[in-house]
Amino acid sequence: MNNQPTIEAYKSFSRRGKELYAAGNFTEAREALLKAAELANKISVESSSYEVRMEYHRAAASLLDFIKKSCSGAPAKRVSPAGAEEKKPSDIRPEKKGAVTFADVAGLEDVKEQIRYKVIEPLKNPALAAMYKIEPGAKILLYGPPGTGKTFIARAIAGEVDAEFYAVNCQDLISKYMGDSSKKLDELFETAQKNERAIIFFDEFDSVASKRGDGTDGVDAEMARFVATFLTKVDGFKRSETNKMLLLIAATNRPWALDSAMLRGGRFDTHIYVGVPDQAAREFLVGRELKGLPMDEDVDLAKLASVLAGYGGGDIAAICGKIKLNAYMRSLRAGAPQNISRDDCNRVLLASHNMITPEELAKFEKFRAGSAG
Ligand SMILES: Nc1ncnc2c1ncn2[C@@H]1O[C@H](COP(=O)(O)OP(=O)(O)O)[C@@H](O)[C@H]1O
Ligand SMILES: [Mg+2]
Repeated sequence: MNNQPTIEAYKSFSRRGKELYAAGNFTEAREALLKAAELANKISVESSSYEVRMEYHRAAASLLDFIKKSCSGAPAKRVSPAGAEEKKPSDIRPEKKGAVTFADVAGLEDVKEQIRYKVIEPLKNPALAAMYKIEPGAKILLYGPPGTGKTFIARAIAGEVDAEFYAVNCQDLISKYMGDSSKKLDELFETAQKNERAIIFFDEFDSVASKRGDGTDGVDAEMARFVATFLTKVDGFKRSETNKMLLLIAATNRPWALDSAMLRGGRFDTHIYVGVPDQAAREFLVGRELKGLPMDEDVDLAKLASVLAGYGGGDIAAICGKIKLNAYMRSLRAGAPQNISRDDCNRVLLASHNMITPEELAKFEKFRAGSAG
């Protein structure tokens, strides 16, 4: 497979589009970025590698989103042009507090345990923590295949310590605030630190903190600026009067792509692998989705959980969703409630395949073996 020429073309259109955008030429920027999105999509569709497919799919989606938000209609508005500061109310807000806590998270015991030591206990008993100079906060990198619950557990941590949760999708941040992402980052830290307890969650961290020169992005300069600001923030971090806990959590599906500067001591130095759920965790997930529903006696949920070995939590939830939809549709057709049957399960299982491949898992194992955290 040689998609290199398409990748080069994609990068070139993407770069051109961003230059045109920066120069205020939105119509032409739109054309170039649309072309870049089209190429990214082509790369995604044609690639045989899951990782490449996902990466370019995301790139295309993010470009289209950017075009929609920033380059469409007239006159396109620029995000805070340099010099001319328009005073807009900040759009940085914590998520509405949800009810998700550790009790909702299947497995991931080591993640929960680390959070207990690093965050929950120091908050509960600050005097003891102070004796050992332990601050209630940490910088944690969660890494693992897609759909294993990284985002989910980050939210659960917020629920567990009753913290405000600021979720940042790094890819969106860069594209949405092109030319301005460092300032946005400043604002984010400032806003979060006004709370007594806060978590900033950087999702898709690899999209801003990648090793330079891996040739997948046309926004290198923006990334470099972002990383510089980010490191300044993280290194020079001082607790404010009001803030008792600030937890920084970053998540990535591609830890090997991260700039090692990010992972050094004092930065994101706690690395936690979020892997596929074990049998107990799968049973928990299957039970959460299907327990208590009308069901044939010979449907064995523990067995279903064991057949789903190797699947991520997100996929398991989706598969269970399809199983119950099958029975529901049969009920609609029959005009009366129908039990979930083994046939419903088998049909869905036959039609589903695991997106998390053994090759991908091996890559994570390799990173894990080489990672101090
Ligand atoms: N360990 C888990 N416990 C409970 N639910 C999970 C778990 N892992 C995944 N899920 C479910 O799958 C969905 C997708 O997981 P997500 O956190 O988005 O994965 P990731 O961020 O690792 O890609 C979650 O919203 C949740 O419903
Ligand atoms: Mg996620």
